Amino acid sequence: MSTGSDAPVRVGIVGLGYWGPNIARALASTPGCELAWACDLDAGNRARIEGRYPGTTLTDRLEDLLEDDALDAIVVATGAPSHHALGMRVLEAGKHAFVEKPLALTVDDARALVDAAAARDRVLMVGHLLRFHPVFQELQRIVDAGDLGRVLYLYTNRLNFGKVRADENALWSLAPHDISLALALAGERPAEVSARGEAFLREGVEDVVFGYLHFPSGLVAHLHVSWLDPHKSRKLTVVGSEGMAVFDDTDAERKLTIYEKASSPSRFDTWGEFQALRTGDVKIPQVPNAEPLLQETTAFVEAIRRGAATVASGDEGLAVVEVLNALQASLEQGGAPVRLGGA
Ligand SMILES: NC(=O)c1ccc[n+]([C@@H]2O[C@H](COP(=O)([O-])OP(=O)(O)OC[C@H]3O[C@@H](n4cnc5c(N)ncnc54)[C@H](O)[C@@H]3O)[C@@H](O)[C@H]2O)c1
Repeated sequence: MSTGSDAPVRVGIVGLGYWGPNIARALASTPGCELAWACDLDAGNRARIEGRYPGTTLTDRLEDLLEDDALDAIVVATGAPSHHALGMRVLEAGKHAFVEKPLALTVDDARALVDAAAARDRVLMVGHLLRFHPVFQELQRIVDAGDLGRVLYLYTNRLNFGKVRADENALWSLAPHDISLALALAGERPAEVSARGEAFLREGVEDVVFGYLHFPSGLVAHLHVSWLDPHKSRKLTVVGSEGMAVFDDTDAERKLTIYEKASSPSRFDTWGEFQALRTGDVKIPQVPNAEPLLQETTAFVEAIRRGAATVASGDEGLAVVEVLNALQASLEQGGAPVRLGGA
């Protein structure tokens, strides 16, 4: 295992299905990182990246990675049901772990991963990709600086037509990203959540889910996720007392828009008080273009090399799994509010 801070971090990846090859590409071009192993049970999936990275050994045996004493870290990019078991094997082998979202399916399993990483002093990161999006990071800076005033509410749309999954519903497949963003902007954990959803294509697997998060400060967040929608939409709208912002990841030119629209704290008892709604400029801040996936893999490597803290820590992964489970419980109770412990 590499020790010197300037030695490259040797990383392996398990899972080369739809998403894994993207991570493999990012790892191969991450400064200070060597993609040493790529593993998948499926020969066809291995063949798709064969010869692409000359220094990378392909295998169908995760044991090859676990038994390589010179391997520092393993990325788990398999389907969600195996995240906990594979993540535990990685950490128990003494390696740093990057686990794709969601960190695990249950709160206990997610906590076990966090505890295992802490006990062995290993980095545990979760694939909350959008935390590394430069436009989201700029929006977070604007919110944290108070430029939008007090955040009153926010809502997200993650909609598409396609990539229907059989082993998880739209909530588990799509909402981890939105929950991670909502928690980051709120700076607190929700106290209560509720969700409604519908399964049209396959019984018991919701294709569309509407989720509602109430935070202790009064902030509320609404999530709309679906893979059965005419729109392709990846949007986050933040409404504050002094301004509003839209992060639209499908808009190539205008990913972030800030509206100088402010509300008055007074109540609208008379017509005159409507004048208290102020509207000003619309700003489109230019944010440097940096690939979120490369920022994410770079953060993982820096966390290993320099002990740098990462925003997508195991603790954040656990928090998102808590919210996902509470939303799922509400979904199964027809939208009944579910309270979260320790909020
Ligand atoms: N961050 C993002 O934006 C993003 C986007 C898409 C998917 N994902 C996540 O990536 C993960 C993978 O999703 P996907 O769509 O690529 O799934 P997938 O089913 O297409 O691929 C999973 C692969 O893992 C392999 N695999 C499973 N168990 C294995 C084992 N024990 N050893 C070796 N190989 C094994 C399978 O053969 C398969 O090729 C999921 O957790 C998903 O949520 C994240």
